[in-house]
Amino acid sequence: MPHDPLRLPQRPRRLRQSESLRHMVRETRLDAAHLVWPLFIQEGAASEPIAAMPGCSRLCVADLLKEGERALALGIRAVALFPRVPDSLKTADAKEAWNAKGLVPRAVAALKKELPDLCVITDIALDPYNSDGHDGLVSDAGEVLNDATVARLCQQALAHAEAGADMVAPSDMMDGRVGAIREALDLAGFERTAILSYAAKYASAFYGPFRDALDSAPRAAGGKPVPGDKKTYQMDPANAREALREARLDEDEGADMLMVKPAGAYLDIIQRLRQETTLPICAYQVSGEFAMIKHAAAAGAVNERAAALESLLAIRRAGADLMFTYFAPQAAAWLKEA
Ligand code: PBG
Repeated sequence: MPHDPLRLPQRPRRLRQSESLRHMVRETRLDAAHLVWPLFIQEGAASEPIAAMPGCSRLCVADLLKEGERALALGIRAVALFPRVPDSLKTADAKEAWNAKGLVPRAVAALKKELPDLCVITDIALDPYNSDGHDGLVSDAGEVLNDATVARLCQQALAHAEAGADMVAPSDMMDGRVGAIREALDLAGFERTAILSYAAKYASAFYGPFRDALDSAPRAAGGKPVPGDKKTYQMDPANAREALREARLDEDEGADMLMVKPAGAYLDIIQRLRQETTLPICAYQVSGEFAMIKHAAAAGAVNERAAALESLLAIRRAGADLMFTYFAPQAAAWLKEA
């Protein structure tokens, strides 16, 4: 009786027999340096937990510095800042967005002073500052205005660059903003400030917990007919070719890196962009993706560590160089143990 009754010449299982063999033939690796940690910040002397995002808090600047230090110790090289702006500073013209003494410029300056090696990325969009909750200015007729918004985004990017941001990340999806921001930065002598462009940002249902965290959901204000969603500027989840068009435009306008957002449900978009561009690609595992794993794990449906690391590995495998993820510190710690 032959030991190999099927006489199979190909037995893929041979290379899966031991952890050593599996490690040798592993095609994708995950490293703390691939992770960018999105951090929420707020005014005042205390931090506050975010109910919709287990384990995350809105940080006061003192705690932000501690978390920045923790990031570096874990091998995470970059953080991305998102401010919660008090209602009293939210206006229809969103002017707090380019206040040089505002929360974001102060937080950036503090981080760059204390932790110069930590790369600081800032979000360019008006939604945290806008009483209408939109990424752009809203006309009296309820239209999200493109060109008027782009001028404001340039002012916002300048305020962040002046404070020392390494990279500005326009997440607003207005047309032409990458070129305009590049020109504004260069004219002011900030040719070294990089632009990470949210090239393919979809009008996704997975941003819910983030909008809760920042109190930034679109809402009717001042009697205007304000649209309750962002579908006139964020992309339709049905479209893939359009993402290539957006990416090409942003690259031509001078983007240094391109973002796909969300990540997990858009792996095909990451893969297609990877084939089309030589720029580094980022993918944003957004608040809803994070919350789904957290809640499923809390309910005992999945193992949190395994599910989180698998979700990140899949995003890497699709072709992302970098990943924004709220799991960053946990994942980096798990990777150290592994
Ligand atoms: C807005 C912005 C959003 C996120 C990052 N920047 C929300 C939105 O577009 O409504 C979402 C991130 C997340 O859900 O984790 N400029």
